[in-house]
Amino acid sequence: MAQHGVSPGLRPFLPGDAPTLAALFRASVEELAAEDYSDDQREAWASAADDEEVFAAKLANALTIVALVGGEIAGFASLKDNTLLDMLYVRPDLARRGVGSSLADAAEKLAGARGTKKLTVEASDAARDFFAARGYVAQSRNTVTIGGEWLGNTTMTKDLAAPPASGPH
Ligand SMILES: CC(C)(COP(=O)(O)OP(=O)(O)OC[C@H]1O[C@@H](n2cnc3c(N)ncnc32)[C@H](O)[C@@H]1OP(=O)(O)O)[C@@H](O)C(=O)NCCC(=O)NCCS
Repeated sequence: MAQHGVSPGLRPFLPGDAPTLAALFRASVEELAAEDYSDDQREAWASAADDEEVFAAKLANALTIVALVGGEIAGFASLKDNTLLDMLYVRPDLARRGVGSSLADAAEKLAGARGTKKLTVEASDAARDFFAARGYVAQSRNTVTIGGEWLGNTTMTKDLAAPPASGPH
């Protein structure tokens, strides 16, 4: 059962956020994906943030949005090439409070406003129900190898509504 929701504030990623987002990413993978992936699989996945410079560059090279609750970072989403929801991670102590939904809403709106008709996500098994509940449809099952570990995920897509007209012509 869901706890009370929160209404996070959203803002663009700033370079100074990178260490906090790296720690949040690791904690999110370690705790929120524990039912779906083994310790070794999660360790391999979380190692994507070990090189913070590379991780920061990945965030900066996409359209990354940060969610704030009580002035602290509660999650982030990263939209790549306006068509791929590349990263979506929520702080474990704030899971199931609507933070992921707020971030996904924002990413979908931004992508739609940039003319994207279909948004894709390589959904982890831990996030599959979350995306299905938002109208994403499974397209293919994949296996990716990270640091010698094999992890399953699912390519899912969502058709985005046309952006509202910009005004009277
Ligand atoms: C997936 C994730 C981003 C969801 O964030 P969240 O803030 O907990 O999600 P929300 O509270 O907005 O959930 C909205 C709805 O999605 C569904 N949902 C979310 N998490 C779910 C879960 N673990 N199992 C089943 N349904 C889930 C529910 O329908 C939920 O509504 P409800 O709580 O009223 O039942 C978060 O669990 C996470 O960071 N997971 C680990 C990292 C990961 O796998 N990221 C995705 C990479 S592709």
